[in-house]
Amino acid sequence: MSRLKNKNILVAVTAGIAAYKVAILVRLLVKQEAQVKVIMTPDARSFVTPLTLSTLSKNSVEWKFFSDNGDWNNHVEFALWADYMIIAPCTANTLSAMANGTCNNLVLATYLSAKCPVIIAPAMDLDMYQHPTTKSNLEILEKNNVHIIPSESGELASGLVGEGRMAEPEHIVDFLDKLIEKDLPLFGKHVLISAGPTYENIDPVRFIGNYSSGKMGYSLAEASYLLGAKVTLVSGPSAEKVSHKEITVQKITSAQDMYTAMHNNFLEADITIMAAAVADYRPKEIAEQKIKKDDDTMIIELVKNPDILKSLGEIKTPDQILVGFALETNNEIAFAEKKLKKKNLDFIVLNSMRDKEAGFQKDTNKITILDRNGEQKSFETKSKKEVAFDILSYLITQKLS
Ligand code: C5P
Repeated sequence: MSRLKNKNILVAVTAGIAAYKVAILVRLLVKQEAQVKVIMTPDARSFVTPLTLSTLSKNSVEWKFFSDNGDWNNHVEFALWADYMIIAPCTANTLSAMANGTCNNLVLATYLSAKCPVIIAPAMDLDMYQHPTTKSNLEILEKNNVHIIPSESGELASGLVGEGRMAEPEHIVDFLDKLIEKDLPLFGKHVLISAGPTYENIDPVRFIGNYSSGKMGYSLAEASYLLGAKVTLVSGPSAEKVSHKEITVQKITSAQDMYTAMHNNFLEADITIMAAAVADYRPKEIAEQKIKKDDDTMIIELVKNPDILKSLGEIKTPDQILVGFALETNNEIAFAEKKLKKKNLDFIVLNSMRDKEAGFQKDTNKITILDRNGEQKSFETKSKKEVAFDILSYLITQKLS
């Protein structure tokens, strides 16, 4: 899933040679599951065909105020439909028209009607881009809150080399992603998450572990990222992969490694969620060589691991939100409430081993969230990805809004 999923993106194409790259832009947006509509200036059709763009966007492409059957292509409707409007390429002529409020084609009329953020990717020859009139037009648009993706440097269609190339489609998508991020509820927040099991070594080839898959923690990392946060994921051994390269992953093995990694990141974290299944005990000694099976019985002495969550609860500031998980088999609510207090948490997410759909290795979970004011909310069985959104949305409404 991407942050662009289900966003309505209106791509407006004007008549510059870079228009051929808009096909790639539309493809990238559709791949990220955005809804895409394309409008054009009449002359833009000389550079890229409406058929190409309608095929890629899966929507009809308009360039006139009236369709051939006489229907009015309502520019206001396009403008209202769009969550974001991208004018790419934006020629010197369209720039000038936008700066002056000219309204003689469908793209300009739609721009004037748009209440959503408007992004332009100017594209023109080097000297046109440098011209004082172009510069002052860009300044006017900037003042009018139009987002400008600066032209890039390189070879131009004229043969000149310099600034004026339309930003590459990938860069336009990145720019849009960053803009969307600013409107998301966790924008500016750092979320720290732990996931998976820990392995406690017995000897070089054996360990004590548990069946945690890491799915819940990885889903929380993805959901936090999609809600706009900067995310650090501290993961024990897990087959899961992070969905977005922007999520920082620190892989660890033992509870002690996890303790260090969590504390190293904790001061910077606004929200910390311990979804890991930390081993409570570790072998007192780790044998240097593989232990031989000479005896009929064997005793491994275990010592207690630090309770990471509790140690974070002891140093947390009032601005930091700390969330733990509780997997219980009986007296679930009472045990979870006790843990919440003992570990100084803001929320505890309870899943019961009595629920067949919850727990280790499962793709689904059924949770109840308890907070420190004694409030609790139970949710239906859902996929762990959906549960992650439920947890974060609850936290946002209870604490951040
Ligand atoms: O006390 P209990 O292990 O049931 O608490 C579960 C919560 O505490 C989980 O959020 C888990 O990640 C965390 N925990 C921890 N360090 C441990 C044991 C559990 O942070 N040693």
